[in-house]
Amino acid sequence: MILAWVKGLHIAALILWCAGLVALPLVLSKHDVAEEQANYARLRKITHYGYTRIVTPAAVVAIAAGTLLIFLRQVFEPWMFAKLVAVGLLVALHSLVGHVVVLMSERRGEYAPPSSKPLLAVVLATMTVVLTLVLAKPVIPDLTPAWLDIPQNRQLPLEATPT
Ligand code: HEM
Repeated sequence: MILAWVKGLHIAALILWCAGLVALPLVLSKHDVAEEQANYARLRKITHYGYTRIVTPAAVVAIAAGTLLIFLRQVFEPWMFAKLVAVGLLVALHSLVGHVVVLMSERRGEYAPPSSKPLLAVVLATMTVVLTLVLAKPVIPDLTPAWLDIPQNRQLPLEATPT
């Protein structure tokens, strides 16, 4: 029962997070340096409140619920770790979007945000990788050297800790 609630929370939060990562670059790219103050103010409010009150909290909830799911479902599998690497990239892209939101505010409308296309391409590709990994759960060979899994029974190259 708890598993269903945590997974539901995870999926609801990640839908909001991913939708925000697609919407924010599109909204930011609508800014024109020559636009009226009223339009600029509206765009600033949408992007600032969208990022700080919706998209970032959704990311935190998605990650917290996902972390709990790892332990509830005991999924310590290579596909899960590959998924975490891709999620790390999504977090980096999230920060990049936040950086553009801040630049828009600090430069008082004189900053022209970059085109949304390259950012959206990377964001969508990363989401596709994450979804493919979690839904297909592909068998990824364990690439760690065997000796890392076996106790070597060696002493630490240090003196014993003084008591
Ligand atoms: C640090 C971030 C994340 C962690 C720790 C995490 C972890 C997990 C875990 C442990 C499960 C349960 C897997 C299972 O029941 O077999 C799960 C399910 C899922 N995750 Fe995540 N996840 C994270 C982020 C994401 C993101 C960003 C997406 C999408 C872009 C995503 C999409 C999904 C989906 C669709 C499921 C349901 C899969 C199913 O029931 O078969 N997750 N996640």
